[in-house]
Amino acid sequence: MEIIISDRVNAIGRYAFADVDNIVMELKKEGIEPIDFGVGDPALPTPDLIRNACKEGIEKRKSSGYPSYIGDAEFRKKVAWWSRKRFGIDLNPESEIMSTIGSKEAIFNFPETFINPGDYTLALNPGYPAWSRGTHFAEGKTYLLNLLPENNYLPDLKSIPSDVVRKVKLLWINYPNNPTTAFSTQLFYEEVLEFGEQNNIIIASDESYTENYYDEPPLSILRLKKNGVVVFQSLSKRSNMTCYRVGWAAGDSRIINAYKKVKPNIDSGTATFIQDAAIAALDDEKHVEKLRDDYRIKRDIIVDAFTAVGLPNCEPKGTIYIWQRVPKGYSSLDMAKKLLEKDTAVVTTPGSWLSQEVQGINPGEGFIRLALVPALEKVKEAAKRIKNLKL
Ligand SMILES: Cc1ncc(COP(=O)(O)O)c(C=O)c1O
Repeated sequence: MEIIISDRVNAIGRYAFADVDNIVMELKKEGIEPIDFGVGDPALPTPDLIRNACKEGIEKRKSSGYPSYIGDAEFRKKVAWWSRKRFGIDLNPESEIMSTIGSKEAIFNFPETFINPGDYTLALNPGYPAWSRGTHFAEGKTYLLNLLPENNYLPDLKSIPSDVVRKVKLLWINYPNNPTTAFSTQLFYEEVLEFGEQNNIIIASDESYTENYYDEPPLSILRLKKNGVVVFQSLSKRSNMTCYRVGWAAGDSRIINAYKKVKPNIDSGTATFIQDAAIAALDDEKHVEKLRDDYRIKRDIIVDAFTAVGLPNCEPKGTIYIWQRVPKGYSSLDMAKKLLEKDTAVVTTPGSWLSQEVQGINPGEGFIRLALVPALEKVKEAAKRIKNLKL
């Protein structure tokens, strides 16, 4: 028989990180172990207190059956408690919070709730693929908003044509931003909220990196308004819990209620012992501060290495990334390949792979992204090799 793949699947490009993985595999075949700053997946262990809570949860819940689709009441109460403590937000655990299997699946599936074929979503470019892929699978269209250094990597909402705005149901924002590391301002959030209100557009804020900051803790958009707003949070980067798959969606109860209708059709919720681990993680800020300190040390080492070879200082205020400008005369890919040469063997992601060409501009071009995830010794070794680069 002939196997016919759906148009939706045929239309999607390759996942950028799959390409990075292929290059790494080629180097490994040659016996070279590259230092990998490619994917934002922390190499360090999940803190003990979280692993222990998970182990205890497994025992405590010997025969707990399927988990709740929306998260245990205990988990949702803890999220409400933490949100008030961290952001000063009041959330009702019954109607304004639901658990997610990490933010990726939630972001991908969310548009099913609101997008009809032909509707539009607005998403940032460069950006996390799930923002637009979810809309694509819901048979909607995505209008990409370029993030440019001259605008502090904030999108220009006024540039969106009015015939597009009329069809938009959803706007994805993400600050602190992957990959540009930019932070939002309160003023920008106010502009976004006004834009949403005027045009009847749901504001979906991917806040996966709010806990990864070096100095000033960033704001949650929910602090300013709940009406028409939903936030996606995750413990992956806050607590080195990428493997656990746990996060939550929170905000306007009408949005959360509608999404609650979708999720049970797709998955069966976050394992309850993982929620136990998440509760322990939310109860503790010490490990988060420790991780912050570790990232700061790595950030300083890498920023120092790049500036030592004459590249601009791109010191980030937060996230787990560095969005490094490449030298004049190099493309993003040239620079990533230069760093992959055998003597350096450092894996980065070309910025141009993380974004698409829109209106003749690929806003990721001219940058590489480094995820500060390798262990400190490897980061030091990478810095030594970077300092030997002849650019
Ligand atoms: C901007 C952004 N959103 C969402 C995610 C998904 O994270 P998770 O599914 O682990 O919560 C990532 C992961 O790297 C990300 O960078």
